[in-house]
Amino acid sequence: MPSLTLSNGVSIPQLGLGTWKMDDDEAERAVSEALAIGYRHIDTAKLYGNEAGVGRAVRASGIPRTEIFVTTKLWPTDFFSPEAAFHRSLELLGLEYVDLYLIHWPAPIMPKSIWHALEKLYAHEYVRAIGVSNYGVRELDSLFAYAKTKPMVNQVKCSPFDFNKQLLDHCKKNGVVFEAYSPLTRGTHLSDPQLRRIADLHKKTPAQILLRWNIEHGMVTIPKSSNPERMRQNFAIFDFSLSPDEMATLDSL
Ligand SMILES: NC(=O)c1ccc[n+]([C@@H]2O[C@H](COP(=O)([O-])OP(=O)(O)OC[C@H]3O[C@@H](n4cnc5c(N)ncnc54)[C@H](OP(=O)(O)O)[C@@H]3O)[C@@H](O)[C@H]2O)c1
Repeated sequence: MPSLTLSNGVSIPQLGLGTWKMDDDEAERAVSEALAIGYRHIDTAKLYGNEAGVGRAVRASGIPRTEIFVTTKLWPTDFFSPEAAFHRSLELLGLEYVDLYLIHWPAPIMPKSIWHALEKLYAHEYVRAIGVSNYGVRELDSLFAYAKTKPMVNQVKCSPFDFNKQLLDHCKKNGVVFEAYSPLTRGTHLSDPQLRRIADLHKKTPAQILLRWNIEHGMVTIPKSSNPERMRQNFAIFDFSLSPDEMATLDSL
């Protein structure tokens, strides 16, 4: 499993399992299955309401905690009490630390105290890395202006059908790892003819082509699946590569 290095030297597996829309029981089953397949990176959030299920699976896996990368997120309703919200997430997960803690969504006006609270959690080693989600260039720049510790990750919606190249370049230029959510377009574009043509050429599925496109752009990608067969399929993307022409075609979608 290839990984990327965050600006503070922490390593993040380039492929993770998304868990949005899973309840606790489904998340526990899916995360256990994913860890058995070889996934070592799980994405959850307070909003998803499944941190307890994710934590149960991580703890029961028998895999050393240091080998699993766990992300959770701060939801805007908790912007006035970020530290309490974080500790509640940690308690639900039943873990001693989280690998990555993200501000889930920016508000139109972001009090500086929110980011400073995340910096404090980082300084106290409750989290190994901090970052943001759904931030555009403007929101990132305004955060850079007052952050003592820059965000290490920006998690945003990204597929060839929803590709903000300017944001990707801005993240790279500023040392922020770009993490793609909804990389499979939630299933809505898997029959696109150009995507299918490239998939057929490689004897891969359209989903595998979409994930490989993330990897080759140097992104982290976190496809969601509760189905072991599709989890295995999404994991099997490290034995082929896309040509520059194929990447350009996908970029243009
Ligand atoms: N930060 C944010 O604001 C934010 C927002 C949205 C999502 N996220 C994160 O990103 C993760 C992924 O995004 P997402 O859940 O929106 O969408 P997604 O990963 O693009 O798509 C998930 C859908 O695709 C299906 N699927 C999975 N593998 C497949 C395959 N190989 N072939 C065909 N269909 C397949 C899944 O069904 P099955 O489960 O039945 O396989 C599910 O219906 C989320 O789970 C969450 O962790 C973050």
